[in-house]
Amino acid sequence: MSTFQIKNLEEYFQVYRKSVETPELFWAEVAEEHFLWRKRWDKVLSWDFSKPEVKWFEGAKLNITENCLDRHLLNRGDKTAILFEPNDPNEPAQHISYRELYERVNKFANVLKAQGIGKGDRVCIYLPMIPELAVSVLACARIGAIHSVVFAGFSSTALATRINDSDCKMVITSDGSYRGGKVIDLKKIVDDALEECSTVETVLVAKRIQAEVPMKEGRDKWLQPLLDEASSECAAEVMDAEDPLFILYTSGSTGRPKGMVHTTAGYMVYTAYTFKNVFQYEEDDIYWCTADIGWITGHSYIVYGPLANGATTLMFEGVPSYPDWGRFWQVVEKHKVTQFYTAPTAIRALARQGLEYVEKYDLSSLKILGTVGEPINDEAWHWYNNHIGKGRCPIVDTWWQTETGGILISPIPFSTPTKPTFATLPLPGIQPVLMDTDGKEVQGRSVSGRLAIKFPWPSMARTIWGDHERYRETYFSAFPGKYFTGDGALRDAEGYYRITGRVDDVIIVSGHNLGTAPIEAAINEHPVVAESAIVGFPHEIKGNALYGYVILKPAGEALDPDALRKEINALIAGQIGPIAKLDKIQFVSGLPKTRSGKIMRRILRKIANNDFENLGDISTLLNPEVVEEIIKNRL
Ligand code: PRX
Repeated sequence: MSTFQIKNLEEYFQVYRKSVETPELFWAEVAEEHFLWRKRWDKVLSWDFSKPEVKWFEGAKLNITENCLDRHLLNRGDKTAILFEPNDPNEPAQHISYRELYERVNKFANVLKAQGIGKGDRVCIYLPMIPELAVSVLACARIGAIHSVVFAGFSSTALATRINDSDCKMVITSDGSYRGGKVIDLKKIVDDALEECSTVETVLVAKRIQAEVPMKEGRDKWLQPLLDEASSECAAEVMDAEDPLFILYTSGSTGRPKGMVHTTAGYMVYTAYTFKNVFQYEEDDIYWCTADIGWITGHSYIVYGPLANGATTLMFEGVPSYPDWGRFWQVVEKHKVTQFYTAPTAIRALARQGLEYVEKYDLSSLKILGTVGEPINDEAWHWYNNHIGKGRCPIVDTWWQTETGGILISPIPFSTPTKPTFATLPLPGIQPVLMDTDGKEVQGRSVSGRLAIKFPWPSMARTIWGDHERYRETYFSAFPGKYFTGDGALRDAEGYYRITGRVDDVIIVSGHNLGTAPIEAAINEHPVVAESAIVGFPHEIKGNALYGYVILKPAGEALDPDALRKEINALIAGQIGPIAKLDKIQFVSGLPKTRSGKIMRRILRKIANNDFENLGDISTLLNPEVVEEIIKNRL
């Protein structure tokens, strides 16, 4: 039995038991068998969730890019590493071999060095889904610079916040991007953001749309001429196991976005191991994850996990609806995709388009389907299973988070029997528990509670950049000694987990994590807005949509409400990005508050969900009378 790949259910149970009973032995074997180390570790694990402090493979030395690139050159040099499918179906796909990727990463790494970037420096990457994105990520890792990729749909304000939070020295961007039928001026967004940033010395600009863009003297440089001059050999920086590899921002229920810090060795081992098992990757497979590299899914399961396994990973620049809703299936047919991994929101949108878009294409290459990012509803699961998988491809419903670095709960295809809407069983090394509101562990089967993890795993985030106390408070204070996920879950009679959704003020819209606080702050910037509160409500395609309750200042009351709604959404798009726009905006005279002045979102949530018959006792509110008004005027 290989330590690295689980082949049937019995093996899964055996391996799982071993991973819980002797975790250090288990992970040492995985790490030993499949990776290239410059120096072996001294200690597999040390941990203390009260600090919290977690270290994996302490003392080991390595470079993750040697594991993703160099070691494949011998046997897989000509194999396609990245298969790039452009936005426009008429533009040819690019097959970037492991050798070519190696050379491009090394050249880029030399450019970074020549521009004064060194180990530990933070580099912000704000690029569309073009090969330069993956190449720049790996180039940073090659020289030990810490990459901070910001999804290129975020606004200039959101970008500036992230650049400033980690004092980035460089930004890598492009002259623009294509998204479906739209052309986006990314460089302008970067220029606007940099008005607010003082630490950025250099901006490297890749060409994608061949646009004339203003270049700031001394700061902005075209990437290609620098690459042309660079050597294609760059010695990999030797990193400590616990050196930071990257920062990736995620929304919190309050305050600023949290820069989750992932470190090198544990992240590499875990993402590679889970990629192999969850997607049962075989040498000639063509694996496609439709996420953007700007999210954790793209980091772990487009770039690092697949490349560490020598896989062919498809990188798609476009959107599912361009030039029409058959685009995904056309790409599957064209490249004979074997594993296809996407989000429930995309599945729901695709399912609405009619089967003619699916039936036009040959999907017989598919072996495994995956979903991630939010709970998948029964209907979407069955549509995916019947029409895409034709009933023969197991669906891996993978539950995890930016903070967890890799997939924690998921079926292992062809081993774990799947069950619609259930993420099923924990992967080896993962010890989930359900907690009640009193902080006690809920034992047994057919129970529900708050999902926590009671033992460390290699790819967990180690801290929040610049704010370790916030890391402790957010994840380790609700249930001392355990990592709290922020999700609710149930465990059924078979021990299968179903994730039911967030139990905090994070709302997942179209698979994107949105915190209420920054959206409310954006709304409150409007000159006639006095106060606001956001809640989620169910939406057929997006999973959740946003409902805003807004109190106007007297000056706003005479204004046209629809015009105001547009202005509020424009503010949100400008401060955060279009993904955070509200579907409904109700103007109210007050918000239900506790006597200590806290907004009772629970009540607002119920009203937005049309579930206001049973609001519980509202007499303790400071202002119970507003509840009736809000119900009467609900949208
Ligand atoms: O609520 C869970 C939901 O997405 C949250 C994490 O979001 P993010 O950090 O953006 O990472 C998304 C991609 C890994 C979780 O707390 N979530 C993620 N996967 C699932 C899910 N909810 C239900 N089922 C899933 N498979």
